[in-house]
Amino acid sequence: NADKIYSDVLASFQIPRDKMRLIATHMYSEFVRGLSADGAPIRMIPSYAYAMPTSHETGVYLALDLGGTNFRVCAVTLKGKGQFDVVADKFTIPDSAKVGPGAALFDFIAGAVEQFVHTHDLSAVAASSATGELTMGFTFSFPVKQESVARGALMYWAKGFDCPDVVGQDVVDLLQVALARRAVKVRVVALVNDTVGTLVAHAYKAPATVMGCILGTGTNAAYIEQLAQVTKYRGTPTPTGTMLINTEWGAFDSEGKVLPLTQFDRELDAMSNNGKQQVFEKLISGMYLGEITRRALVHLVEAGALFGGKLSTPLQTVYAFETAYMSTIEADTSPALTAVGQVLADHLAVASTTLTDRQLVKSLVQQIGTRAARLSAVGIFALLEKMGVPESKPVVVAVDGSVWLKYPGFQDRLRAALRELMGPEKAALVSVETAHDGSGTGAALIAALVDKQH
Ligand code: BG6
Ligand code: GLC
Repeated sequence: NADKIYSDVLASFQIPRDKMRLIATHMYSEFVRGLSADGAPIRMIPSYAYAMPTSHETGVYLALDLGGTNFRVCAVTLKGKGQFDVVADKFTIPDSAKVGPGAALFDFIAGAVEQFVHTHDLSAVAASSATGELTMGFTFSFPVKQESVARGALMYWAKGFDCPDVVGQDVVDLLQVALARRAVKVRVVALVNDTVGTLVAHAYKAPATVMGCILGTGTNAAYIEQLAQVTKYRGTPTPTGTMLINTEWGAFDSEGKVLPLTQFDRELDAMSNNGKQQVFEKLISGMYLGEITRRALVHLVEAGALFGGKLSTPLQTVYAFETAYMSTIEADTSPALTAVGQVLADHLAVASTTLTDRQLVKSLVQQIGTRAARLSAVGIFALLEKMGVPESKPVVVAVDGSVWLKYPGFQDRLRAALRELMGPEKAALVSVETAHDGSGTGAALIAALVDKQH
């Protein structure tokens, strides 16, 4: 009957502690696998960023931030002593530039840089520099096969971007060519993933930072690894020192071994433009949570467990239910769940709902949001285990992204799950903190570090 169907759906999203542990163990071994061979599902990409900032870096650097909700151009003034100012302008990338020929995307980006340099009168800064150019760090939040700190070929797109001719190309070259076409005097010296940027930017202020994590449109994490552990690149003698590794953990379990997928996750994956890829990301990140919820709602309506069995057009429209609506639903603590009713009426054209309907919707949303928080905790836990921290000294995990920042209760649920996994004593040594203004600043810092080496 309808009640049973509802409770089965709810239960299918639960991940008890033992299952979290099992997933973490598998993830740990996949991290090791990624460090030992190219082509493993979790790519474990060496960033070629070795040094962490000293907090003494100074100077004006440009940064680009492409791949999250907003595309931003920033000018970061590093003032030393862990202090910096950021001036940033946001641009909306037209959907037509996100899919199609890469030239259109990179021309749009170069146009934004040109406009930024003009608006903020930065030509004088360029002219006064030794090279007559501005120095830029490029945060590009997609997996690239990095060849040096400023070179890398795109492996595959994610998060709805799809410009096929860019795959395999060096994205810094493409950007530099697009900038040259507009005679913009900018030299790109660093190519940085948003997770690496977040890690470096937070370390500028909090030197105990060991990991940068994004929980936003997509999900991923970067951390500090011993070079000797990166066995796929190990020459002789065994290198010493550390390098920041961009894990690309969103691709975890694309082989379908441990993640407990529901029928809704499978449907979403099947209709996405990157089927069987980014499977972990699809359970956690903002691009997908709303769509999973919508699919579960449709199933429940069809089973007669919700809305008197009546479907509406938006309810049947792919991606019509945004993750932001889940935030509104979770934030509603009113006895009548008025805001929940409002979301259903305004966005799903379900004009009249009973209190029971609204309660069921809220519990379903909570379950899907909680699963995402628990799986994020699994990732953080597995990566801390890989690093062998914390031992006795506290460590900091820096997190950014719209799900982390805007989804009510997400932070508490993630921290609670970490305590379940690590035990309260160890968990007390891990501070999971918000990294404000993360990756733009990180890219500028890495640009500064590279600049100093020359
Ligand atoms: C931003 C970072 O704050 O968070 C970006 O500057 C990052 O680099 C983004 O990609 C992730 O969050 P979202 O929600 O925009 O994908
Ligand atoms: C996707 C990208 C990854 C990025 C993450 C968060 O998973 O592949 O590079 O870090 O989204 O933005």
